[in-house]
Amino acid sequence: MNPLFRKRSRRKKIPNKRMAEQLIIATSENKTERYKILIPQIQSLVEGEPDIVANLSNIAAALRQTMNFFWVGFYLVKNNELVLGPFQGPIACTRIAFGKGVCGASWKEKKVILVPDVEEFPGHIACSSDSKSEIVLPAFKNNEVALVLDVDSDKLNDFDEIDEIYLKQVMTVIEKFL
Ligand code: SME
Repeated sequence: MNPLFRKRSRRKKIPNKRMAEQLIIATSENKTERYKILIPQIQSLVEGEPDIVANLSNIAAALRQTMNFFWVGFYLVKNNELVLGPFQGPIACTRIAFGKGVCGASWKEKKVILVPDVEEFPGHIACSSDSKSEIVLPAFKNNEVALVLDVDSDKLNDFDEIDEIYLKQVMTVIEKFL
């Protein structure tokens, strides 16, 4: 048998992933409506795809496209610090220590942190001087924080419990492939 053919035929089959060709973005100004249309699409985007970087990249892009966030992305826990992961927006700090900044605090305290005015948050890390408010949510693997989702706005007081409710749903989707 042709050795090339043998190699090809033995290659592990990669299932043909079906995914939305385009994201359906709610035209509504109402953010609840936008999140409601987005969340099931995020679920479909990651379904059947086990690769964490691929999934986090698409989630960051989908969040940015739908919600027009100034900066949205992930910091992953690696060797006892947070390391920048997939994101959309201006360039950002690459490493954050445990307990430092809003992201490090969310990791340490294992909870969602909503910051209406970053100037008022002691130790806030300003990756961009344009960031004015922020929300950070942790995702867990085996009861430990595995990564955080950080969303920044260039407007003061731009996040509330609606963002918290729906972004928590995004974290639940993420926890399934961590
Ligand atoms: N502001 C964050 C740092 C990350 S950047 O905003 C993208 C913090 O204080 O943890």
